[in-house]
Amino acid sequence: MALWGGRFTQAADKRFKDFNDSLRFDYRLAEQDIEGSIGWSKALVTVGILTKAEQQQLEVALNALLVEVRSNPLGILQDDAEDIHSWVESKLINKIGNLGKKLHTGRSRNDQVALDIKMWCKQRVTELQHTIRRLQVKLVETAENNQDAVMPGYTHLQRAQPISFAHWCMAYVEMLDRDYSRLSDAYRRMNTCPLGSGALAGTAYPIDREQLAKDLDFSMATRNSLDSVSDRDHIIELLSTASLSMAHLSRFAEDMIIFNSGEADFVELSDRVTSGSSLMPQKKNPDACELIRGKAGRVMGALTGMLVTLKALPLAYNKDMQEDKEGIFDALDTWQDCVEMASFVLDDIKVNVERTKEAALKGYSNATELADYLVSKGVPFRDSHHIVGETVVYAIKVHKGLEDLTIDEFRQFSDVVNEDVYEILSLQSCLDKRCAKGGVSPLRVAEAIAEAKVRFL
Ligand code: ARG
Repeated sequence: MALWGGRFTQAADKRFKDFNDSLRFDYRLAEQDIEGSIGWSKALVTVGILTKAEQQQLEVALNALLVEVRSNPLGILQDDAEDIHSWVESKLINKIGNLGKKLHTGRSRNDQVALDIKMWCKQRVTELQHTIRRLQVKLVETAENNQDAVMPGYTHLQRAQPISFAHWCMAYVEMLDRDYSRLSDAYRRMNTCPLGSGALAGTAYPIDREQLAKDLDFSMATRNSLDSVSDRDHIIELLSTASLSMAHLSRFAEDMIIFNSGEADFVELSDRVTSGSSLMPQKKNPDACELIRGKAGRVMGALTGMLVTLKALPLAYNKDMQEDKEGIFDALDTWQDCVEMASFVLDDIKVNVERTKEAALKGYSNATELADYLVSKGVPFRDSHHIVGETVVYAIKVHKGLEDLTIDEFRQFSDVVNEDVYEILSLQSCLDKRCAKGGVSPLRVAEAIAEAKVRFL
Protein backbone atom coordinates (compact mmCIF):
# COMPACT_ATOMS: atom_id res chain seq x y z
CA MET A 1 0.00 0.00 0.00
CA ALA A 2 1.21 3.51 -0.79
CA LEU A 3 2.27 5.78 2.08
CA TRP A 4 -0.53 8.16 1.28
CA GLY A 5 -3.43 5.66 0.83
CA GLY A 6 -5.87 7.15 3.41
CA ARG A 7 -7.29 9.88 1.19
CA PHE A 8 -7.90 7.55 -1.72
CA THR A 9 -10.78 5.17 -2.33
CA GLN A 10 -9.43 3.65 -5.52
CA ALA A 11 -6.06 2.04 -6.07
CA ALA A 12 -3.74 3.66 -8.58
CA ASP A 13 -3.94 2.33 -12.10
CA LYS A 14 -1.02 0.03 -12.79
CA ARG A 15 -0.05 2.10 -15.83
CA PHE A 16 0.08 5.23 -13.69
CA LYS A 17 1.97 3.45 -10.92
CA ASP A 18 4.61 2.24 -13.37
CA PHE A 19 4.91 5.76 -14.75
CA ASN A 20 5.07 7.40 -11.34
CA ASP A 21 7.28 5.04 -9.35
CA SER A 22 10.95 5.88 -9.00
CA LEU A 23 12.26 2.86 -7.08
CA ARG A 24 13.82 1.35 -10.21
CA PHE A 25 16.37 4.20 -10.18
CA ASP A 26 16.25 5.86 -6.76
CA TYR A 27 17.10 2.54 -5.09
CA ARG A 28 20.63 3.91 -5.42
CA LEU A 29 19.81 6.33 -2.59
CA ALA A 30 19.09 3.55 -0.08
CA GLU A 31 22.18 4.08 2.08
CA GLN A 32 21.66 7.83 2.19
CA ASP A 33 17.98 7.40 3.03
CA ILE A 34 18.80 5.10 5.93
CA GLU A 35 21.60 7.29 7.28
CA GLY A 36 19.35 10.36 6.99
CA SER A 37 16.62 8.47 8.84
CA ILE A 38 18.99 7.64 11.70
CA GLY A 39 19.84 11.35 11.94
CA TRP A 40 16.16 12.26 11.93
CA SER A 41 15.35 9.72 14.66
CA LYS A 42 17.91 11.40 16.91
CA ALA A 43 16.33 14.78 16.24
CA LEU A 44 12.91 13.36 17.16
CA VAL A 45 14.22 12.48 20.62
CA THR A 46 15.12 16.11 21.28
CA VAL A 47 11.51 17.20 20.63
CA GLY A 48 9.93 14.43 22.69
CA ILE A 49 8.46 12.36 19.83
CA LEU A 50 10.68 9.36 20.52
CA THR A 51 12.17 8.17 23.79
CA LYS A 52 15.84 7.38 23.89
CA ALA A 53 15.03 3.69 24.01
CA GLU A 54 12.74 3.92 20.99
CA GLN A 55 15.39 5.79 19.06
CA GLN A 56 17.92 3.08 19.93
CA GLN A 57 15.57 0.42 18.69
CA LEU A 58 14.98 2.32 15.44
CA GLU A 59 18.67 2.86 14.96
CA VAL A 60 19.47 -0.82 15.45
CA ALA A 61 16.80 -1.79 12.91
CA LEU A 62 17.93 0.86 10.41
CA ASN A 63 21.54 -0.29 10.76
CA ALA A 64 20.46 -3.88 10.14
CA LEU A 65 18.68 -2.68 7.00
CA LEU A 66 21.84 -0.83 5.97
CA VAL A 67 23.83 -4.05 6.21
CA GLU A 68 21.25 -5.83 4.06
CA VAL A 69 21.27 -3.05 1.49
CA ARG A 70 25.04 -3.00 1.29
CA SER A 71 25.26 -6.73 0.77
CA ASN A 72 22.55 -6.79 -1.90
CA PRO A 73 21.61 -3.35 -3.26
CA LEU A 74 19.81 -4.78 -6.30
CA GLY A 75 17.59 -6.84 -4.02
CA ILE A 76 15.59 -3.64 -3.44
CA LEU A 77 14.35 -3.83 -7.03
CA GLN A 78 12.27 -6.92 -6.23
CA ASP A 79 9.88 -4.73 -4.24
CA ASP A 80 6.93 -2.83 -5.53
CA ALA A 81 7.33 0.25 -3.30
CA GLU A 82 6.78 3.64 -4.93
CA ASP A 83 10.21 5.01 -4.14
CA ILE A 84 13.21 4.42 -1.91
CA HIS A 85 11.73 6.46 0.94
CA SER A 86 8.60 4.30 1.01
CA TRP A 87 10.75 1.20 0.71
CA VAL A 88 12.91 2.06 3.74
CA GLU A 89 9.87 2.95 5.83
CA SER A 90 8.00 -0.24 4.93
CA LYS A 91 11.04 -2.42 5.63
CA LEU A 92 11.47 -0.71 8.98
CA ILE A 93 7.86 -1.33 9.88
CA ASN A 94 8.26 -4.99 8.85
CA LYS A 95 11.21 -5.25 11.22
CA ILE A 96 9.95 -3.45 14.32
CA GLY A 97 6.23 -2.92 13.82
CA ASN A 98 4.38 0.19 14.99
CA LEU A 99 7.43 2.02 16.29
CA GLY A 100 8.63 2.25 12.67
CA LYS A 101 5.53 4.30 11.88
CA LYS A 102 6.72 7.12 14.15
CA LEU A 103 9.85 7.88 12.13
CA HIS A 104 8.20 10.08 9.52
CA THR A 105 6.84 12.54 12.14
CA GLY A 106 7.65 16.12 11.08
CA ARG A 107 9.43 14.98 7.92
CA SER A 108 8.33 14.99 4.29
CA ARG A 109 9.66 13.04 1.34
CA ASN A 110 10.40 16.48 -0.09
CA ASP A 111 13.09 17.34 2.45
CA GLN A 112 14.06 13.67 2.60
CA VAL A 113 14.78 13.36 -1.12
CA ALA A 114 16.59 16.70 -1.12
CA LEU A 115 18.79 15.36 1.67
CA ASP A 116 19.40 11.97 0.08
CA ILE A 117 20.47 13.30 -3.27
CA LYS A 118 22.80 15.85 -1.66
CA MET A 119 24.43 13.16 0.47
CA TRP A 120 24.84 11.01 -2.65
CA CYS A 121 26.32 13.90 -4.64
CA LYS A 122 28.80 14.72 -1.86
CA GLN A 123 30.04 11.15 -1.83
CA ARG A 124 30.38 11.08 -5.62
CA VAL A 125 32.34 14.35 -5.65
CA THR A 126 34.96 12.79 -3.41
CA GLU A 127 35.17 9.65 -5.56
CA LEU A 128 35.38 11.68 -8.77
CA GLN A 129 38.15 13.82 -7.36
CA HIS A 130 40.21 10.72 -6.59
CA THR A 131 39.61 9.41 -10.11
CA ILE A 132 40.64 12.73 -11.66
CA ARG A 133 43.82 12.79 -9.57
CA ARG A 134 44.70 9.30 -10.79
CA LEU A 135 44.38 10.44 -14.40
CA GLN A 136 46.50 13.50 -13.67
CA VAL A 137 49.19 11.30 -12.13
CA LYS A 138 49.07 9.04 -15.20
CA LEU A 139 49.44 12.06 -17.49
CA VAL A 140 52.39 13.36 -15.50
CA GLU A 141 54.05 9.92 -15.67
CA THR A 142 53.42 9.78 -19.42
CA ALA A 143 54.89 13.27 -19.77
CA GLU A 144 57.93 12.28 -17.76
CA ASN A 145 58.57 9.29 -20.03
CA ASN A 146 58.13 11.28 -23.24
CA GLN A 147 60.10 14.48 -22.69
CA ASP A 148 62.28 13.84 -25.73
CA ALA A 149 59.43 13.18 -28.13
CA VAL A 150 59.30 16.33 -30.28
CA MET A 151 56.19 16.69 -32.40
CA PRO A 152 54.40 19.41 -34.29
CA GLY A 153 52.03 21.58 -32.31
CA TYR A 154 49.00 22.68 -34.29
CA THR A 155 46.73 25.64 -34.71
CA HIS A 156 43.87 25.30 -37.21
CA LEU A 157 45.13 21.70 -37.44
CA GLN A 158 48.07 23.12 -39.42
CA ARG A 159 51.58 22.43 -38.17
CA ALA A 160 52.43 25.57 -36.20
CA GLN A 161 55.46 25.22 -33.91
CA PRO A 162 57.31 22.25 -32.46
CA ILE A 163 56.25 21.04 -29.04
CA SER A 164 56.95 17.90 -27.03
CA PHE A 165 54.54 15.07 -26.31
CA ALA A 166 55.24 15.80 -22.64
CA HIS A 167 54.03 19.39 -23.01
CA TRP A 168 50.85 18.11 -24.64
CA CYS A 169 50.25 15.74 -21.69
CA MET A 170 50.77 18.54 -19.19
CA ALA A 171 48.14 20.69 -20.95
CA TYR A 172 45.51 18.11 -19.99
CA VAL A 173 46.81 18.03 -16.42
CA GLU A 174 45.87 21.72 -16.22
CA MET A 175 42.35 21.21 -17.59
CA LEU A 176 41.75 18.41 -15.11
CA ASP A 177 43.04 20.61 -12.32
CA ARG A 178 40.29 23.11 -13.05
CA ASP A 179 37.71 20.29 -13.18
CA TYR A 180 38.95 19.14 -9.79
CA SER A 181 38.67 22.60 -8.32
CA ARG A 182 35.20 23.11 -9.78
CA LEU A 183 34.18 19.97 -7.89
CA SER A 184 35.60 21.42 -4.68
CA ASP A 185 33.63 24.63 -5.22
CA ALA A 186 30.42 22.74 -5.94
CA TYR A 187 30.99 20.59 -2.86
CA ARG A 188 31.31 23.64 -0.64
CA ARG A 189 28.01 25.05 -1.87
CA MET A 190 26.10 21.76 -1.64
CA ASN A 191 27.28 21.12 1.90
CA THR A 192 24.10 22.49 3.54
CA CYS A 193 21.51 20.20 5.07
CA PRO A 194 17.87 20.55 3.92
CA LEU A 195 16.38 18.06 6.41
CA GLY A 196 13.90 19.70 8.76
CA SER A 197 12.38 21.82 5.97
CA GLY A 198 9.30 19.61 5.93
CA ALA A 199 7.17 19.58 2.79
CA LEU A 200 7.93 23.24 2.06
CA ALA A 201 7.18 25.50 5.05
CA GLY A 202 9.51 23.98 7.63
CA THR A 203 8.96 21.22 10.18
CA ALA A 204 6.37 21.82 12.89
CA TYR A 205 8.73 20.52 15.59
CA PRO A 206 11.32 22.82 17.18
CA ILE A 207 14.27 20.80 15.96
CA ASP A 208 17.81 22.14 16.25
CA ARG A 209 18.57 21.96 12.56
CA GLU A 210 22.18 23.03 12.98
CA GLN A 211 22.77 20.06 15.26
CA LEU A 212 20.97 17.81 12.78
CA ALA A 213 23.17 19.17 9.97
CA LYS A 214 26.27 18.42 12.03
CA ASP A 215 25.09 14.90 12.81
CA LEU A 216 24.66 14.28 9.09
CA ASP A 217 28.11 15.66 8.29
CA PHE A 218 27.02 18.92 6.67
CA SER A 219 28.70 22.25 7.36
CA MET A 220 25.40 23.99 8.16
CA ALA A 221 21.61 23.80 7.83
CA THR A 222 19.92 25.43 4.81
CA ARG A 223 18.40 28.83 5.56
CA ASN A 224 15.02 28.76 3.80
CA SER A 225 12.61 25.83 3.75
CA LEU A 226 11.00 26.74 0.41
CA ASP A 227 14.38 26.92 -1.24
CA SER A 228 15.58 23.76 0.51
CA VAL A 229 13.00 21.50 -1.11
CA SER A 230 13.12 23.23 -4.51
CA ASP A 231 16.86 23.59 -4.90
CA ARG A 232 18.59 21.34 -7.42
CA ASP A 233 21.49 23.72 -8.07
CA HIS A 234 23.96 21.13 -6.83
CA ILE A 235 22.76 18.69 -9.49
CA ILE A 236 23.10 21.31 -12.20
CA GLU A 237 26.52 22.39 -10.97
CA LEU A 238 27.74 18.80 -11.03
CA LEU A 239 26.24 18.20 -14.47
CA SER A 240 27.88 21.38 -15.68
CA THR A 241 31.24 20.41 -14.17
CA ALA A 242 30.86 16.96 -15.69
CA SER A 243 29.97 18.44 -19.09
CA LEU A 244 32.97 20.73 -19.13
CA SER A 245 35.26 17.95 -18.02
CA MET A 246 33.79 15.70 -20.71
CA ALA A 247 34.62 18.44 -23.22
CA HIS A 248 38.22 18.21 -21.99
CA LEU A 249 38.23 14.43 -22.19
CA SER A 250 36.66 14.57 -25.62
CA ARG A 251 39.44 16.87 -26.87
CA PHE A 252 41.98 14.50 -25.35
CA ALA A 253 40.28 11.61 -27.15
CA GLU A 254 40.13 13.52 -30.43
CA ASP A 255 43.84 14.42 -30.23
CA MET A 256 44.61 10.76 -29.59
CA ILE A 257 42.47 9.64 -32.52
CA ILE A 258 44.35 12.03 -34.81
CA PHE A 259 47.75 11.03 -33.38
CA ASN A 260 46.84 7.37 -33.84
CA SER A 261 45.60 7.77 -37.41
CA GLY A 262 47.49 6.22 -40.31
CA GLU A 263 48.17 9.75 -41.58
CA ALA A 264 49.88 10.96 -38.39
CA ASP A 265 51.14 7.68 -36.95
CA PHE A 266 52.47 9.55 -33.90
CA VAL A 267 51.26 7.06 -31.31
CA GLU A 268 50.26 3.46 -31.19
CA LEU A 269 47.40 2.63 -28.87
CA SER A 270 47.64 -0.72 -27.19
CA ASP A 271 45.65 -3.76 -28.31
CA ARG A 272 43.95 -3.61 -24.94
CA VAL A 273 42.01 -0.42 -25.80
CA THR A 274 41.39 -0.85 -29.51
CA SER A 275 39.17 -3.13 -31.51
CA GLY A 276 39.20 -4.76 -34.91
CA SER A 277 36.89 -4.57 -37.89
CA SER A 278 34.66 -7.52 -38.73
CA LEU A 279 35.44 -7.04 -42.41
CA MET A 280 38.80 -5.30 -42.81
CA PRO A 281 41.49 -7.43 -41.19
CA GLN A 282 44.14 -4.67 -41.17
CA LYS A 283 42.17 -2.31 -38.94
CA LYS A 284 42.80 -1.39 -35.35
CA ASN A 285 40.21 1.14 -34.29
CA PRO A 286 40.57 3.62 -31.41
CA ASP A 287 37.17 2.73 -29.95
CA ALA A 288 38.01 3.68 -26.38
CA CYS A 289 38.79 7.23 -27.47
CA GLU A 290 35.84 7.41 -29.83
CA LEU A 291 33.51 6.36 -27.04
CA ILE A 292 34.93 8.98 -24.68
CA ARG A 293 34.29 11.56 -27.40
CA GLY A 294 30.81 10.18 -28.05
CA LYS A 295 29.77 9.96 -24.41
CA ALA A 296 30.47 13.67 -23.96
CA GLY A 297 27.24 14.31 -25.86
CA ARG A 298 25.25 12.23 -23.46
CA VAL A 299 26.55 14.05 -20.37
CA MET A 300 25.93 17.44 -21.96
CA GLY A 301 22.43 16.25 -22.83
CA ALA A 302 21.77 15.49 -19.16
CA LEU A 303 22.79 19.05 -18.23
CA THR A 304 20.47 20.54 -20.82
CA GLY A 305 17.67 18.20 -19.75
CA MET A 306 17.92 19.24 -16.12
CA LEU A 307 18.10 22.96 -16.87
CA VAL A 308 14.99 22.70 -19.01
CA THR A 309 13.17 20.61 -16.39
CA LEU A 310 13.79 23.17 -13.64
CA LYS A 311 13.19 26.26 -15.73
CA ALA A 312 9.76 27.75 -14.97
CA LEU A 313 8.94 25.27 -12.18
CA PRO A 314 6.91 27.17 -9.60
CA LEU A 315 8.06 26.89 -5.99
CA ALA A 316 8.23 24.58 -4.18
CA TYR A 317 8.47 20.82 -4.88
CA ASN A 318 6.94 19.47 -8.09
CA LYS A 319 7.09 15.89 -9.26
CA ASP A 320 9.06 17.06 -12.30
CA MET A 321 12.01 17.13 -9.89
CA GLN A 322 12.02 13.35 -9.70
CA GLU A 323 13.54 13.60 -13.19
CA ASP A 324 16.80 14.85 -11.62
CA LYS A 325 17.98 11.37 -10.72
CA GLU A 326 18.43 9.32 -13.86
CA GLY A 327 20.34 12.18 -15.50
CA ILE A 328 22.76 12.79 -12.65
CA PHE A 329 23.30 9.07 -11.97
CA ASP A 330 24.04 8.34 -15.60
CA ALA A 331 26.14 11.47 -16.18
CA LEU A 332 28.40 10.94 -13.17
CA ASP A 333 28.78 7.21 -13.88
CA THR A 334 29.67 8.03 -17.48
CA TRP A 335 32.11 10.78 -16.50
CA GLN A 336 33.86 8.53 -13.99
CA ASP A 337 34.09 5.70 -16.55
CA CYS A 338 35.58 8.05 -19.12
CA VAL A 339 38.20 9.46 -16.71
CA GLU A 340 39.18 5.89 -15.85
CA MET A 341 39.26 4.87 -19.52
CA ALA A 342 41.49 7.85 -20.40
CA SER A 343 44.01 6.60 -17.80
CA PHE A 344 43.78 3.16 -19.28
CA VAL A 345 44.44 4.48 -22.80
CA LEU A 346 47.66 6.07 -21.53
CA ASP A 347 48.70 2.90 -19.75
CA ASP A 348 50.79 1.39 -22.51
CA ILE A 349 50.71 3.94 -25.24
CA LYS A 350 53.75 4.02 -27.53
CA VAL A 351 54.97 7.32 -28.95
CA ASN A 352 56.64 6.92 -32.33
CA VAL A 353 59.47 9.45 -31.77
CA GLU A 354 60.93 9.04 -35.26
CA ARG A 355 57.61 9.89 -36.86
CA THR A 356 56.81 12.80 -34.54
CA LYS A 357 60.23 14.29 -35.16
CA GLU A 358 59.92 13.87 -38.91
CA ALA A 359 56.54 15.62 -38.82
CA ALA A 360 57.91 18.40 -36.62
CA LEU A 361 60.67 19.02 -39.16
CA LYS A 362 58.16 19.35 -41.96
CA GLY A 363 55.54 22.03 -42.39
CA TYR A 364 57.85 25.01 -41.79
CA SER A 365 57.16 24.98 -38.09
CA ASN A 366 60.45 26.84 -37.60
CA ALA A 367 59.27 29.84 -39.64
CA THR A 368 58.69 31.90 -36.50
CA GLU A 369 62.32 31.24 -35.55
CA LEU A 370 63.51 32.74 -38.82
CA ALA A 371 61.30 35.78 -38.23
CA ASP A 372 62.76 36.20 -34.72
CA TYR A 373 66.25 35.76 -36.19
CA LEU A 374 65.68 38.66 -38.59
CA VAL A 375 64.36 40.72 -35.66
CA SER A 376 67.60 39.99 -33.80
CA LYS A 377 69.43 41.45 -36.81
CA GLY A 378 67.46 44.67 -36.57
CA VAL A 379 64.56 43.99 -38.97
CA PRO A 380 61.19 45.17 -37.54
CA PHE A 381 58.93 42.17 -36.83
CA ARG A 382 56.20 43.14 -39.30
CA ASP A 383 58.78 43.30 -42.11
CA SER A 384 60.47 40.09 -41.01
CA HIS A 385 57.10 38.30 -40.96
CA HIS A 386 56.59 39.31 -44.60
CA ILE A 387 60.13 38.32 -45.63
CA VAL A 388 59.75 34.89 -44.02
CA GLY A 389 56.39 34.44 -45.77
CA GLU A 390 58.09 34.99 -49.13
CA THR A 391 60.95 32.70 -48.15
CA VAL A 392 58.48 29.94 -47.24
CA VAL A 393 56.71 30.29 -50.61
CA TYR A 394 60.09 29.89 -52.29
CA ALA A 395 61.09 26.90 -50.12
CA ILE A 396 57.81 25.14 -50.89
CA LYS A 397 58.46 25.72 -54.60
CA VAL A 398 61.92 24.15 -54.45
CA HIS A 399 60.75 21.35 -52.08
CA LYS A 400 63.13 22.25 -49.28
CA GLY A 401 62.82 22.89 -45.57
CA LEU A 402 63.93 26.35 -44.40
CA GLU A 403 66.95 24.75 -42.76
CA ASP A 404 67.96 23.28 -46.15
CA LEU A 405 68.14 26.61 -47.98
CA THR A 406 71.59 27.96 -48.84
CA ILE A 407 72.74 31.35 -47.59
CA ASP A 408 72.43 32.68 -51.13
CA GLU A 409 68.84 31.50 -51.29
CA PHE A 410 68.05 33.24 -47.97
CA ARG A 411 69.71 36.40 -49.23
CA GLN A 412 67.30 36.66 -52.14
CA PHE A 413 64.85 37.77 -49.45
CA SER A 414 67.02 39.43 -46.83
CA ASP A 415 70.70 40.28 -46.86
CA VAL A 416 71.07 40.12 -43.06
CA VAL A 417 71.08 36.29 -43.05
CA ASN A 418 74.38 34.62 -42.07
CA GLU A 419 75.67 31.11 -41.29
CA ASP A 420 74.38 31.47 -37.71
CA VAL A 421 70.82 31.06 -39.04
CA TYR A 422 71.11 27.26 -39.23
CA GLU A 423 71.59 26.88 -35.49
CA ILE A 424 68.39 28.77 -34.70
CA LEU A 425 66.36 26.82 -37.24
CA SER A 426 67.04 23.52 -35.46
CA LEU A 427 64.19 21.83 -33.58
CA GLN A 428 66.22 21.97 -30.38
CA SER A 429 66.61 25.71 -30.63
CA CYS A 430 62.90 26.16 -31.38
CA LEU A 431 62.11 24.36 -28.12
CA ASP A 432 64.91 25.82 -25.98
CA LYS A 433 63.99 29.39 -26.78
CA ARG A 434 60.49 29.03 -25.39
CA CYS A 435 61.74 29.22 -21.84
CA ALA A 436 59.34 31.71 -20.29
CA LYS A 437 56.98 30.23 -17.72
CA GLY A 438 54.52 27.79 -19.30
CA GLY A 439 56.62 27.42 -22.47
CA VAL A 440 57.74 24.26 -24.20
CA SER A 441 61.47 24.45 -23.44
CA PRO A 442 62.60 21.07 -22.07
CA LEU A 443 63.77 22.78 -18.90
CA ARG A 444 60.38 24.36 -18.26
CA VAL A 445 58.52 21.15 -19.05
CA ALA A 446 60.76 19.23 -16.65
CA GLU A 447 60.01 21.84 -13.99
CA ALA A 448 56.27 21.59 -14.65
CA ILE A 449 56.48 17.81 -14.27
CA ALA A 450 58.47 18.07 -11.05
CA GLU A 451 56.08 20.66 -9.66
CA ALA A 452 53.03 18.53 -10.52
CA LYS A 453 54.62 15.53 -8.83
CA VAL A 454 55.07 17.48 -5.63
CA ARG A 455 51.44 18.57 -5.83
CA PHE A 456 49.90 15.17 -6.56
CA LEU A 457 52.17 12.61 -4.93
N1 ARG B 1 10.33 10.07 -5.56
C1 ARG B 1 10.23 11.46 -5.28
C2 ARG B 1 11.35 12.23 -5.99
O1 ARG B 1 12.28 11.62 -6.35
C3 ARG B 1 10.34 11.69 -3.81
C4 ARG B 1 9.62 12.90 -3.34
C5 ARG B 1 8.17 12.71 -3.48
N2 ARG B 1 7.44 13.83 -2.95
C6 ARG B 1 6.16 13.98 -3.23
N3 ARG B 1 5.60 15.02 -2.72
N4 ARG B 1 5.48 13.16 -3.97
O2 ARG B 1 11.28 13.42 -6.16
